[in-house]
Amino acid sequence: CGIVGYIGAQQAAPILLEGLGRLEYRGYDSAGIAVLGGRGTVKVVRRVGRVHALAAAVPARIAGRVGIGHTRWATHGAPSEANAHPQPSADGRIQVVHNGIIDNAAELRARLATEGVDLASDTDTEVLAHLIAGAARTRDTLEAAVLAALAQVTGTYAIAVVDTATPDRIVVARNGSPLVIGVGEREMFVASDVSALVRHTSSVVHLEDGELASVTATGFRTFTRERDDVAKTPTTVELTVEELELAGHDHFMHKEIHEQPSSVERMLGGRLDDRFGSARLDGLRMELRELRGFRRVKVLGCGSAYYVGQLGATLIEDLARVPADAEPASEFRYRNPVIEPDTLYVAVSQSGETADTLFAVREIQRKGGRVVGLVNVVGSSIARQCDGGIYLHAGPEVSVASTKALTHMAVGFALLALALGRVHDLSHADGARILAGLQALPGQIAEILADEETIAEAGRRLADARSLFFIGRVRGYPVAREAAQKFKEITYRHAEAYPSSELKHGPLALIDADLPTVAVVPDDDLVERNLAAAHEIRARGGRLTVITHPGVDLGDLEADRITVPRNERELDPILLTIPTQLLAYHAARALGEDIDRPRNLAKSVTVE
Ligand code: G6P
Repeated sequence: CGIVGYIGAQQAAPILLEGLGRLEYRGYDSAGIAVLGGRGTVKVVRRVGRVHALAAAVPARIAGRVGIGHTRWATHGAPSEANAHPQPSADGRIQVVHNGIIDNAAELRARLATEGVDLASDTDTEVLAHLIAGAARTRDTLEAAVLAALAQVTGTYAIAVVDTATPDRIVVARNGSPLVIGVGEREMFVASDVSALVRHTSSVVHLEDGELASVTATGFRTFTRERDDVAKTPTTVELTVEELELAGHDHFMHKEIHEQPSSVERMLGGRLDDRFGSARLDGLRMELRELRGFRRVKVLGCGSAYYVGQLGATLIEDLARVPADAEPASEFRYRNPVIEPDTLYVAVSQSGETADTLFAVREIQRKGGRVVGLVNVVGSSIARQCDGGIYLHAGPEVSVASTKALTHMAVGFALLALALGRVHDLSHADGARILAGLQALPGQIAEILADEETIAEAGRRLADARSLFFIGRVRGYPVAREAAQKFKEITYRHAEAYPSSELKHGPLALIDADLPTVAVVPDDDLVERNLAAAHEIRARGGRLTVITHPGVDLGDLEADRITVPRNERELDPILLTIPTQLLAYHAARALGEDIDRPRNLAKSVTVE
């Protein structure tokens, strides 16, 4: 979900709506704003659906210089106007927007009901509004009322609260969900994510868990739940509005796919160490001796980050010959994992805010494990929680379906594998070979993108399938898994990934003319086996799209062929993934789907 707030000399409504538009990728089931007017009045508009539906419903004359807004990804309660935020207290005096989940909401709702409070929504957020309003009756300040309410709740939250009785402030609090304050010239902003602020200011203050802030037009005061003041110095965000615009593309996903040559080049800048045939990773904050001490690597992430984690684990095993594997962070944290002191734990996340990943990091640290992050968003919760890391520097990613951030994760793993390899068994010559491979990546990605029309044509031909397979073997298997994920996320087609070797052990039964397969067939020592699997599919009437290398001869195999340039075999999966992004994009486009905002999903899931 997304939160914004404004207080200053300008009209609040347009600023809130613009900010919500920027945050929409965080959730888009419903949206709303509350603007404080003169003499204790408040205007609230909420709508089911997208921010533009809300904007159309906001009357032009809605006047007021203080307000809060929200765009929602439903957790408790279906998307409806009553469940949209801001959530009001019964008398409308208090308005609350909230990200996160209040764990004891059911209990609190029951208690409020016995106290005679009419509950108007199915949300956990509503209880906050009632609790704050209740506390406000006997407290002098809104800050005190918010503190009293928060003392009664357990769970995660980022909240912004306004009160018609004290219209000169917005009170915000953070516990497990991100929140930032934007500092302007006699105006202040709050948001769950800096992208909502960059049009107005680059000076921001991050709240930590357990902190609150009282924000007025001229300043802010931060304090803890224990009421101790905390001094905060604003930091500068390096994010420009241009980075958040479509820049001539029809979709952010398309823009972000095409940014990859330059963004990967930028990411590699300064990190390639030619002298030692290694990677320079100062952000890891680790001595060579420490790196050498790791006997195992465990990668944790969710969704696509987990699939890239699998690709990364293979890279680490290949280059460093250290046992490595990946596991969904969401599973790991719930199964009482054994934490080993000589294991390097790696948390992978684009947003740096995924709750499951963050909690996995904390669990590892509590048990004495060492975690580094592969994170895109600078200053995000996971980045700050980790003991060091590699920033991905992919720039902002707006499309819900991740593309460039995943490529950057894979490159980050290659750098980590190189650094680990060079203190284990990897020779200088092999290190230099991988360095050259990395340097070639930006140009080769550009080459693949230049062939977009061939890939688009193949993608459009896949659009009519109700169900499809993606197959790959060993290094190609994580490529197939991520490709299937991307395809299903934005086309709503059932797409499933299998190791090519497993096909004959079951799924082959499903192959017929209506179930096409996308096969990843790199030019490596397994090419013959992969081609044999492709022939088995064709023999059963299955249609094929083959993603392969220039030297591979498909012979009489009937297939749509997509050819990508060769790199070093360890790095090939990075390039083999690129066309699968465009396959999904063009299939979804042919189907007329809302590519940047697929149904039921959100860019980052900050709830458990
Ligand atoms: C959500 C998104 C996925 C994403 C996952 C991890 O589920 O819908 O696309 O892969 O979170 O996000 P992260 O920001 O941690 O990489």
